[in-house]
Amino acid sequence: MSRVVLIYGSQYGSTERYSRWIAEELRQAGVLTEVVAASVVTPSHLAEADMVVAGLSDYGGLLTESFEVKKLVNQLLAQPLALFTVSFAGLDGAPQEKLDGILRKNVGEVLVNHASGTFHFRGALDHTRLSLKHKTVMIGIRSAIAAIPKKSEANQQMLDSFSQKSVDYSSPEACIPLVQLVLKNLG
Ligand SMILES: Cc1cc2nc3c(=O)[nH]c(=O)nc-3n(C[C@H](O)[C@H](O)[C@H](O)COP(=O)(O)O)c2cc1C
Repeated sequence: MSRVVLIYGSQYGSTERYSRWIAEELRQAGVLTEVVAASVVTPSHLAEADMVVAGLSDYGGLLTESFEVKKLVNQLLAQPLALFTVSFAGLDGAPQEKLDGILRKNVGEVLVNHASGTFHFRGALDHTRLSLKHKTVMIGIRSAIAAIPKKSEANQQMLDSFSQKSVDYSSPEACIPLVQLVLKNLG
């Protein structure tokens, strides 16, 4: 039986949720899965894996726990890898190349080149749960977006999220291409 390890870096749970959705789909296809936070992952978690899926959330171009993933570069290069990011806007806010560029900057060129695929999903935002630091950053983001004359839909959704308090654009269906890629790699 094939075994896939899913590593996630997540601050409010969106990316963890995606990892669990992907794991559930794989389990239904007969794959053994282990979902583990990047903050606690060790080389031994990866030793028996046939493939690794790493997902990290985006905070202004900085990916959560990317340093922890980068530390495992040698182990990750030894087996197939898929990478994904989770952000408010996902591909509705920026093209694939730009979001791949964020991955390259955070986990390194070598890992992104090694990955069989990179994916970018939309997440959620609950203003009532944000840390003080994140609330403060959000005030700046709000003013910056408000000043844009022709706002994209994702920009408008970001502005609207302040009055709605909590919005969620994440979707389990978005994971299907990633799941298919993993199953193809496992053969
Ligand atoms: C301070 C802060 C900065 C963020 N920066 C971005 C950003 O630059 N682009 C974007 O699309 N989403 C941004 N987001 C939205 C997060 O990526 C989104 O909430 C994601 O679902 C978080 O995933 P997590 O709960 O797994 O950490 C930001 C959120 C916060 C709180």
